Amino acid sequence: LVGLPGDTYAKIQDCVRYVRAHSSLVPEIVIVLGSGLGAIADEIDAPVALPYADIPHFHAPGVAGHPGRLVLGLMRGVPALVLQGRFHFYEGHPMDEVILPIRMAKYLGCTSALITNAAGGLNPAYSPGDLMLLEDHVNLIGANPLRGPNPPELGGPRFLDLSEPYDPEYRALIQEAAAEVGLPPLRQGVYVGVSGPTYETRAEVRLFRSMGADAVGMSTVPEVIAARHLGVRVAAVSCVTNLACGLVEGKVSHDDVMEQGAAAAGKMQRLLVAAVPKIAAA
Ligand code: 6GU
Repeated sequence: LVGLPGDTYAKIQDCVRYVRAHSSLVPEIVIVLGSGLGAIADEIDAPVALPYADIPHFHAPGVAGHPGRLVLGLMRGVPALVLQGRFHFYEGHPMDEVILPIRMAKYLGCTSALITNAAGGLNPAYSPGDLMLLEDHVNLIGANPLRGPNPPELGGPRFLDLSEPYDPEYRALIQEAAAEVGLPPLRQGVYVGVSGPTYETRAEVRLFRSMGADAVGMSTVPEVIAARHLGVRVAAVSCVTNLACGLVEGKVSHDDVMEQGAAAAGKMQRLLVAAVPKIAAA
């Protein structure tokens, strides 16, 4: 019966019921952590951690470097839900399962989403370790998470406006947070989401650059679309772990991506911890 309108909603309810049985905290903000950025979960006070493998319809982590657990607690006093690891389209999950965690977050109470990822830099001015605030995206995943029935229980529109997916007020607050923690102004750019799991060819890198993209990655776009569909306000930050091929000599390796993710994780952590109370107050 997969794909029937009631099915998606029932899955969300199963997840919400499971999480509620383990914590009564009502989170205001969901923070999605990308590759190598998991340590931010350590900033949660009074944490309740639930492994993904135990949550209905969730999956055990598929990729090294993605631990796969949900952490509920307070971040600088703000009730928060941290998703440490995500389900990628390239792992073969159907789109409705890729976006299930973000939909669950909405039904647990979240009205804001702060989404992070590891990305390849396309803009030649970028360096590994840079943080980039998303100002827009190009969806080249080859699928749209809202394709299929639009369950009326979700209340989202059939045809979703995406003229401004990344909240301008949140972007300004994140820049303020960057200044507060002593980071230089964050880069702001366009993220192109692809399916992966291959990295880009040199010709694809030229194409993406010519279409105005500044960074490329294999996540985030489905979650942003799902969050906006449910009226959740969104901010997203890429950690530029490496430059895409053609911009530097040599090849792109997952080990380099993980290593640079880890190196930049400290910056991302300081940034998010300072940004969360501002976003919660906005
Ligand atoms: Cl170079 N490409 C893609 N698609 N995803 C990435 C990446 C590159 N670097 C980190 N994630």
